[in-house]
Amino acid sequence: MFDTHTEINLGDAQLDRDHSELMRLSQALLDVPNDRNVLALEALYTAAREHFSLEDADLRRLGGNNSVCHLDEHALVLKSLEEVLEILRDPATTSEKANQMLSSLAMELLRWLPEHIREMDSGLASVRSQARFGGSPIVFA
Ligand SMILES: [Fe+2]
Ligand SMILES: [Fe+2]
Repeated sequence: MFDTHTEINLGDAQLDRDHSELMRLSQALLDVPNDRNVLALEALYTAAREHFSLEDADLRRLGGNNSVCHLDEHALVLKSLEEVLEILRDPATTSEKANQMLSSLAMELLRWLPEHIREMDSGLASVRSQARFGGSPIVFA
């Protein structure tokens, strides 16, 4: 359904590695067995939090409106993940409801992430590479 090989490569090793891991962990939510729902979402949450905090540090240094929007998107995504985690951890949640929530979250993330990478992270990747090498990254197709 989702071809993870069409991931967007920004030419920033750290960001690209993190993004493929986030895609992989989101994809994994789609067919995780019931009893591993919480573990699978916790793994994604931890990876997302670490990745966002890496980008957030650069964004805070940069400042400006784009950075504020970018920081907000990260915070919103973490908040949704926390909300779903809370519901999954609630013993009153049926496994049917848990599966439903997890798959709609996964679909939403698999739609959101590539868009976010293209529209927001790509700008950050150029700034990161300018800071390192004084130029834009060269991406080998
Ligand atoms: Fe990112
Ligand atoms: Fe980002």
